[in-house]
Amino acid sequence: MARAAVAADDDIFALRLNRSDADLWGMTDRLYGSHPGYPKFRAALLKAMRAAWADRPAALRRLDLQRDLEPDWFQRPHMAGYVLYIDRFAGTLAGVLEKLDYLQDLGITYVHLMPCLKPRHGDSDGGYSVMDYRAINPAFGSMADFEVLATALRDRGMSLCVDLVLNHTAKEHAWARKAAKGNPGFQDCYLMFDDDTLPRQYGQTLVEVFPDTAPGNFTHYPAFGKWVWTTFNEHQWDLNWANPQVFLEIVQIMFFLANRGVDVLRLDAVAFMWKRMGTRCQSEPEVHMILRALRAACRVVCPAVIHLEEAIVAPAEMLPYLGRGEHDGREGNLAYHNSLMVQFWSALATRDTGLMTHVLATHFPPRLTNATYATYIRCHDDIGWAVTDEDAAAVGLGGPAHRAFLSEFYEGGFPGSFAQGALFQVNPATGDKRISGSFASLAGLERALKAGDAAGAETAVQRILLGHALIASYGGIPLIYMGDELALLNDYGYLAVPDHAHDSRWIHRPRMDWQAAETKKTADTPAGRVFRGTQHILARRLAVPALHGACPVKVLHSGVAGLFAFRRVAPTGPVVCLFNFADGWQGVGAAWLRQQGVLRMWDVLSETEVLPHDGVVTLPPQGRVWLV
Ligand code: GLC
Ligand code: GLC
Repeated sequence: MARAAVAADDDIFALRLNRSDADLWGMTDRLYGSHPGYPKFRAALLKAMRAAWADRPAALRRLDLQRDLEPDWFQRPHMAGYVLYIDRFAGTLAGVLEKLDYLQDLGITYVHLMPCLKPRHGDSDGGYSVMDYRAINPAFGSMADFEVLATALRDRGMSLCVDLVLNHTAKEHAWARKAAKGNPGFQDCYLMFDDDTLPRQYGQTLVEVFPDTAPGNFTHYPAFGKWVWTTFNEHQWDLNWANPQVFLEIVQIMFFLANRGVDVLRLDAVAFMWKRMGTRCQSEPEVHMILRALRAACRVVCPAVIHLEEAIVAPAEMLPYLGRGEHDGREGNLAYHNSLMVQFWSALATRDTGLMTHVLATHFPPRLTNATYATYIRCHDDIGWAVTDEDAAAVGLGGPAHRAFLSEFYEGGFPGSFAQGALFQVNPATGDKRISGSFASLAGLERALKAGDAAGAETAVQRILLGHALIASYGGIPLIYMGDELALLNDYGYLAVPDHAHDSRWIHRPRMDWQAAETKKTADTPAGRVFRGTQHILARRLAVPALHGACPVKVLHSGVAGLFAFRRVAPTGPVVCLFNFADGWQGVGAAWLRQQGVLRMWDVLSETEVLPHDGVVTLPPQGRVWLV
């Protein structure tokens, strides 16, 4: 009996290796085939995969089997995510364990722990400057605590997502330290130059991610006489992915985390992984080959694990992260729908959904293969106004003017603005201004409360619920960002923290106040209404099969400036979702809705019948319905 089981295991590995042949070796051949160390690399990778498979705990192997049998598991409507900073949310990993009831009560089935691997000391870019990928940040607990939490989540049917930073390590990482000591093998794991000739040449076409606080893309270290590629901050050294050694190390870290019980690997800043002279060094074709190969390696060793690729770029550049062309169905399983987020804020400010409808209808296909979006309104980062000049022009707007308007509106300076935000990384060279701020403050709650304006506060509540209803129905896993379920306002405390004061993103990384949270949930206050409203939205999402990620989404032209509309096409009949971004009531013809397949006029969100008056279905300001 025992012998037969072992043989079956080997057989499974062989079959999976076979399944991924073109995706794995097909890509590594192209990436590294001409490298002198390639044959050794292949042997080492195969050995690493076998070792990781042999180490994989039985419970996770069972999950592998289950998810191979149910490959749509992450597209189902019960999926709803929550993104949290361990220390700010609950102190430690053990603290998070105690808050799982709270998350489950909200309707959460997927928990993203913000960077939890061991970061450098001091400013670590919120944990994205990692010095040891195999250790947990000691401030949060140990690897054993991490595994306990992973098991507890799995027992509750909840998935665990963690960050894996692929583009760079901290300059305190063991490799970087050896490189700084002059070891050429480790210097080759980064991008290092003897003088500034090449950095200058590359610099001509590069963009700056943090122009304000970390200008330039290279750092000179006189101590060891090198120029080092540092796209983000000085302490974050870009890895050299043209070196197969880097691939081998990172893929083993992926297996290591997978075997500790991680379900979703959030691959950070992937666009930047491959450099090519004369380009922006973002989203080069090799990036997609690497990501496809990494995905394939995981499908051999730990198929239960999926990849969320973080690429905050324009629509046409983003879609390939979900597999396009030759990589269709073979790359990321999830990617952030940055455009949906940007368009939400744009429509909210202008009370006009023309640009939103144009962008989402033009650039995004109705369906994706083996993939879906991570939909969100706020995250831990700033909002960049990723609206192209072409898209703006298509609806009669000027690109630069519209982007400048959005920054001014959300910073709060534009006359009549309801928002209170903060600027992030103003770039005088490009005129680019990004925005920080919590969902509630950007949606108007902070200003309304300060002014004692109860009606304004209620409108802000409705804007938040409009956003949550949008991301819960558009298609993909909706991600609720820590504190947004309680309408937490901007936290200005960061200005007093020396390591944070330069980075306004900390304004929207609040600390949970649990005593307040428990009372807030049930109170008749904006916080309570947002909590219960969000809970209701997630509960209704769960109950609507047509919101499955594989059901195509078709953006509709309703002909009404303030309304955003789309149809989810399902075998059981369509759902038409309508969202009113205007300040007044807006209506669409019942006949038009019938043409879209809405026969009963039943709103599955509020569970009530929608009665047309004079042949028109009307929605109040910030109203939203999911009609069947
Ligand atoms: C990612 C993170 C961001 C971080 C950057 C550099 O985009 O979301 O917070 O600053 O990568 O690691
Ligand atoms: C830019 C980068 C993204 C990063 C963010 C940090 O949007 O593309 O990767 O997370 O800046 O603010």
